[in-house]
Amino acid sequence: METAYPRIKQLTPGPRHSLSGGLKDWQAPPLRLGETERLRFRNMIYDYPQYYEVAFSFRDIPKEAAFLRACIDRHSKIDVSWVFEVGCGFAPHAEELIKAGYRYLGLDKNRNMLDYAVSKWRHLEPRPDFIEGDMIAFQTPRPVDFAFVMLGSLYLNTREEMNSHFDSLARVLRPGGLYFLDWCVQFDDPMKYADNNSVTFERDGISVASRFNIRLTDPTEQMYEEIWTLDVNDRGRRRTLQMTERNRAIAPRDFLDFVRNRSDFEFVGWWRDWNLDQPITDTAEITRPVALLRRR
Ligand SMILES: C[S@@+](CC[C@H](N)C(=O)[O-])C[C@H]1O[C@@H](n2cnc3c(N)ncnc32)[C@H](O)[C@@H]1O
Repeated sequence: METAYPRIKQLTPGPRHSLSGGLKDWQAPPLRLGETERLRFRNMIYDYPQYYEVAFSFRDIPKEAAFLRACIDRHSKIDVSWVFEVGCGFAPHAEELIKAGYRYLGLDKNRNMLDYAVSKWRHLEPRPDFIEGDMIAFQTPRPVDFAFVMLGSLYLNTREEMNSHFDSLARVLRPGGLYFLDWCVQFDDPMKYADNNSVTFERDGISVASRFNIRLTDPTEQMYEEIWTLDVNDRGRRRTLQMTERNRAIAPRDFLDFVRNRSDFEFVGWWRDWNLDQPITDTAEITRPVALLRRR
């Protein structure tokens, strides 16, 4: 049966993206219920991309982008022009990938994230493209040659959603192209990170303390709930943001079975420590495992 797709909403820089003084002009949207109030709201933190960016500033983005290139060089069966990020957020890797010669396309469902991305990267040439949509079922304005998803951002909670996502991707990813998945397969117990996971990062006068509270909600379906709290000190202005996400942990065996049951993707491999010389062969201490699939 044909899936009904939402219309593509492609974002191009418009008046709201033409911030005269660059990013310093970007204002966090006002909190809806007062500054110190704790809010439980899906997507709440993603509504504040600048704080999200500080919270995840621990990553070595040039190194990660170089790793994506290495995966392409070593494992892609096609030449890559367009790279496509699923759940792109503010598109942290866009600049490095464009500098490396790729065209960049990002998909996200959060409009604030997309607005921030369009504004942040509007100086790049060629300019990155963004589309607003849901990763469960999507289309892109053009075929892509490489797809990737970072930080376990596969928000697919049922097998139907997984299949729908891969059906969409199979339609847009050219045969021979790779799908790179960062931290989407759970080699260890997600509850391992339940305690003592508070970290603080600071950038441009904004300090963000981030902590996760993780709770298994349905062991049979491997569903867990992550309550993510950010305590922000934005140049003296304090606010607490919180959001709850429900995720399904994908165990290695389930992932392999899922891929083998599809005729359109093949498993290429998985690695620890973002190192192509370190294939995963056991489950001892794996931080941010990465996996590669290839479109047949
Ligand atoms: C953890 S962030 C990752 C952002 C970016 N890829 C990065 O590496 O920083 C997850 C992103 O996925 C987006 N997202 C969540 N559910 C989504 C969905 N169903 N479809 C598309 N994007 C989604 C959020 O809005 C958010 O920007």
